[in-house]
Amino acid sequence: MKKKVLFLCTGNSCRSQMAEGWLRHLHGQRFEAFSAGIAKHGMNQYAIQAMKEIGVDLSAHHSKLLSELESLEFDLVVTVCSNAHESCPLFPGKAKVVHVPFDDPPALAVGLSDSEEIMVPYRRVRDQIGEFVKSIDKLIDRGNSMEIKILHDDKIKSQVSQRYGSIAKAGNSCCSASASGCCQPDGIQQVSEKLGYSSDEVSSVPEGANMGLGCGNPQAIASLKPGENVLDLGSGGGFDCFLAAKAVGPSGMVIGVDMTPEMLSKARKNAVNGGYSNVDFRLGEIEHLPLADNSVDVIISNCVINLSPDKESVFREAFRVLRSNGRIAVSDVVAFKPLTEELRNNLDAYCGCIAGAATVNELEAMLKMIGFANVRIEIKPESRNVVKDWFKGAEDFVCSANIMASKP
Ligand SMILES: C[S@@+](CC[C@H](N)C(=O)[O-])C[C@H]1O[C@@H](n2cnc3c(N)ncnc32)[C@H](O)[C@@H]1O
Repeated sequence: MKKKVLFLCTGNSCRSQMAEGWLRHLHGQRFEAFSAGIAKHGMNQYAIQAMKEIGVDLSAHHSKLLSELESLEFDLVVTVCSNAHESCPLFPGKAKVVHVPFDDPPALAVGLSDSEEIMVPYRRVRDQIGEFVKSIDKLIDRGNSMEIKILHDDKIKSQVSQRYGSIAKAGNSCCSASASGCCQPDGIQQVSEKLGYSSDEVSSVPEGANMGLGCGNPQAIASLKPGENVLDLGSGGGFDCFLAAKAVGPSGMVIGVDMTPEMLSKARKNAVNGGYSNVDFRLGEIEHLPLADNSVDVIISNCVINLSPDKESVFREAFRVLRSNGRIAVSDVVAFKPLTEELRNNLDAYCGCIAGAATVNELEAMLKMIGFANVRIEIKPESRNVVKDWFKGAEDFVCSANIMASKP
């Protein structure tokens, strides 16, 4: 007999409906999927659209109250939003109840009017729910470890976003807003030159675009050509996007993706000030890129992937959006020896681009497993002189590296 799983949230209009759709789509043979709310808000049209994009039709779904499903006995109940968690009745019998919170897409889309931008949080949450539902059988069979991982990743991302949000709001002087990390006490111009930018490059971008948050110069290894489409993962104030925009010229295009709204608006203002017409900044997570498959020639990134708690998803997404023969040219912090447990668990060091660094071997294995060819990771020992100012003792474990690979 199929096991019954109920997804519960407040209005049964978006997240719980997506989860029901995902479960039927991915595990319909093993599980019966249900969803309900503690109120009926009616189906959310953006949720229907987001699921339609991955081939799941929710158009016949409707919002239901939990009381309408009272006669059923569930094997697992998953509350997917905090409100339902608080107001959720206790389930008698054998139902196991777990709480796996997901962001509320309608709340994230408040104030947005462009439908493509509105879809960004819906797609992100759709994919996060999909990842969760993919392994839901393990949750039933083996306990709560995946739930803990999702909570852990969300907490890290929200801390990272808060950190870079306050840096963006503080303007150029990132050191005044951040306690440590990815932040150059020596003066932005000087450190940018130490990291491989020419003084012409540094002075060619709009004021405020270079916040001194990088750890290398991806332009130097990207060999950008006129007409290419470039994607910058974690574009910050837009520094590398603006340099890339010049290199690819008016026939090319540069897209910057960043999850921190304050960074995004700063980058957009900088683009207006600099008169760039071939740069587009998009709100999104690099683990769930708001870009079509096979649409990018070159992916650059500067001091960002170390901040992702799910690097495998970042590289899988990079692989998906790259065209065949497309390449990645990334500057990032890597570990040349395993970090101590204490350093790895230090949230301040994490947000400061130190504690999330993967080892060279881990990155190499990940890139190859995903299908990248020509994988090359070149560590830059001299950059230990820069990272030593970010976090005490960091230079004993991490340094900057160039990460290059191509999609066959
Ligand atoms: C250290 S800063 C680097 C910014 C820029 N690349 C530069 O060199 O100036 C990291 C940036 O990555 C963004 N970021 C971190 N994790 C991200 C994620 N998972 N998805 C999207 N953006 C992310 C942050 O919001 C921040 O703007």
